Amino acid sequence: MKMVTRTVDLRSDTVTKPSDVMRAAMANADVDDDALGTDPTAFQLESEVAKVMGKEAAVFVPSGTMGNLIAVLVHCEIRGSEVILGDDSHIHVYENGGISTFGGVHPKTIKNNPDGTMDIDKIEAAIRTPTDSLYYPTTRLICLENTQANCGGRCISAEYTDKVGEIAKKHGLKLHIDGARIFNASIALRVPVHRLVQAADSVSVCLSKGLGAPAGSVLVGSKNFIAKARRLRKALGGCMRQVGVLCAAAYVALSENVSKLEDDHRKAKIIAEGLSQIEQFSVDAKSVETNMVFFTILDTSVLSPKRLCQVLEERGVLVLPSSSTSIRIVLHYQISDNDVNYALTCIKQAVHQILTEASPNNGN
Ligand SMILES: Cc1ncc(COP(=O)(O)O)c(C=O)c1O
Repeated sequence: MKMVTRTVDLRSDTVTKPSDVMRAAMANADVDDDALGTDPTAFQLESEVAKVMGKEAAVFVPSGTMGNLIAVLVHCEIRGSEVILGDDSHIHVYENGGISTFGGVHPKTIKNNPDGTMDIDKIEAAIRTPTDSLYYPTTRLICLENTQANCGGRCISAEYTDKVGEIAKKHGLKLHIDGARIFNASIALRVPVHRLVQAADSVSVCLSKGLGAPAGSVLVGSKNFIAKARRLRKALGGCMRQVGVLCAAAYVALSENVSKLEDDHRKAKIIAEGLSQIEQFSVDAKSVETNMVFFTILDTSVLSPKRLCQVLEERGVLVLPSSSTSIRIVLHYQISDNDVNYALTCIKQAVHQILTEASPNNGN
């Protein structure tokens, strides 16, 4: 096995290490007991995120998963509620079915299109009301995800979100946005983040993804919504004491790292272009809008995602399989241009190595 001399971690934008400025802010944070509502640094972060998102109030939560769970449970507090959401949405696929387990909320999935949207007419057709039939649950919420991670980090436009918001209003429903990477969408679309979420009743914003904080998300919405969210956060065990230590790092992430996202997007495009030159892969470089690149391996009989990930790991390049035929690469601000070049070189070498091992005469 080769000696690994460097690591380029492209598994996710959640792998960043807190910067020196974040660590200093954590060490010096002014803190108090947040369960008593008196942590000044939590208050500062929550106020700032509410302002940036154009909503009345905000609450810090330990994770994006908890932010989404609380939002769905608040909007669907009546037993027998149904939520309409994408079949490839994080809430549906990766959050342990929490909305059903803890909230008894029934998911009604709509197919996510490759651009991350769901067809508006399909959303409207899926809405069910108590007067429809004795047999149906009652739709109370629609969820969108921006950027839509599993569709390749695609951006959902303000216009589309407005249309979904109109449908929601027309039928007396609420609209929640899983905005784990909403700042990526804002930067890529060049639309202020508050405009992107204008139609939403609530948004869960992750600070620990592309913005690089070590932990935490902020849920925003109306004062009434956030008051209910605070009660649920307590019930779920997500209310922490001197949480200002985490909020201080998150505040640095928000102040310093939003502007760096553009560079992540540029590097993602370079990776996608590089991968599209490799004949064993299929990658739609044009669909790379933010910091994620998904590529498909055309023939996985020898070159499987698992094997490619293994060989890359031996070279210090960390990536994750996203299916039995595809791999996901995610950029973040601790990846340099040099790392991007190194990763591309390693990927080419790894493909060559695997093919040569399988059939020594073919790889040359
Ligand atoms: C789109 C999306 N939403 C929500 C989450 C959940 O965030 P967390 O891992 O902080 O629970 C993630 C995590 O990767 C995500 O990608």
